[in-house]
Amino acid sequence: MPASYDLLIRRARLRSGDIVDIGIQGETIAALQADLAGEASRVIEAAGRLTSPPLIEPHCHLDAILTEGDAGHNESGTLLEGIARWAVRKQSLTPEDVRRRATEGIKWYASQGALYIRSHVDICDPKLTALKALLEVKEACRDLVDLQLVAFPQEGILSYAQGEALMEEALRLGCDVVGAIPHYEITREMGVESLHIAFRLAEKYDRPIDAHCDETDDEQSRFVEVLTANTIRHDMQGRVTASHTTAMHSYNNAYTFKLFGWLKRAQMHIIANPPDNIILQGRFDTYPKRRGMTRIKELLEAGINVAVGHDSVMDPWYPFGTGNMLHAAFLAMHIAQMSGYSEVPRVWDLVTENAARVLGVEERYGLAPGKQADLVIFDAPSERDALRMMAPALYCIKRGRVISETTSPRVQVFHEGKSEEIRFVKQ
Ligand code: FE2
Repeated sequence: MPASYDLLIRRARLRSGDIVDIGIQGETIAALQADLAGEASRVIEAAGRLTSPPLIEPHCHLDAILTEGDAGHNESGTLLEGIARWAVRKQSLTPEDVRRRATEGIKWYASQGALYIRSHVDICDPKLTALKALLEVKEACRDLVDLQLVAFPQEGILSYAQGEALMEEALRLGCDVVGAIPHYEITREMGVESLHIAFRLAEKYDRPIDAHCDETDDEQSRFVEVLTANTIRHDMQGRVTASHTTAMHSYNNAYTFKLFGWLKRAQMHIIANPPDNIILQGRFDTYPKRRGMTRIKELLEAGINVAVGHDSVMDPWYPFGTGNMLHAAFLAMHIAQMSGYSEVPRVWDLVTENAARVLGVEERYGLAPGKQADLVIFDAPSERDALRMMAPALYCIKRGRVISETTSPRVQVFHEGKSEEIRFVKQ
């Protein structure tokens, strides 16, 4: 009696290069092997195309997404003008406004393969309007993405009135992760104290931590060491993430060498956000201008987990993007100079496996029997080609259900009296 599946994917090319069939029952991968016997309610022919665990967006801001231009355009393109424009736009947030933009943004991400998202939510608002709306969105969009929300004190835990109380209220309401922004606090001492508060809250509510940390060109900004020390002292190894860490670009190498040793012992996760930071950092430099990017390649070589986020999509800080995580990975590949042949699959890891470790979802993430049936079929034979061509995600499957389909573009060139289809693949 042949097995019966709800969905069967034929001739999927895995990241390893193996060609397999994938049988899905309900929300779970039931079988994965070459030439799988069985029938299914629906069969998708992958025809040797790359079939990957989903892309992951480990760092974005769904409360601000798609607000670009609402409070005037950012004419200077700087972080400071972005903050000023957000401060104005923030005043007109309503639950409906946040729900509509966040849901639209999630559709953009998901239809391009990002089926797990971690979003920071600004909790510096006595009404917590954005947070309450995003908690609803999290449930409403459960069919599209697994969404984690970080209680993010955009204006500081100690530098904003009632910041600590609002952080606690956000966690009580259901935020999955404790955030922080120590480099933004008024003094270094307040930055250190803000991290102590974050760890106290993490312990009390049993949540991981993801802090915006040292997102500045100031080489004196060294809160990642405080985050690391607290991680070890609170025995939270593997549950803490330092996002951005752009100051690390400017640390001297002797200090960085010492720091890497402790980051590794703390099992710290680092998230780099190339789209925003390549645009926003280095603005006080003349020439040479720093890149505003943390040390992705060197951190990886030191055995420290690094993931890449898109951060902003059409908001006051970054006016571009469509929520395509391949754009963020492509930028990372260039800025981190990870173009070596064997390095390119490691770039794919930055927005898949490594990001899964940041989110702590490894148990259900991946292509193997028993895992949650989340996968993406890209219109490319390999991850290398998918990155090179920004290949569309032809089929996105979440919990066993096809949640989006994209038709591959057809390009015709007319030359010497003939019409020829171009596929951008080396023959
Ligand atoms: Fe951010």
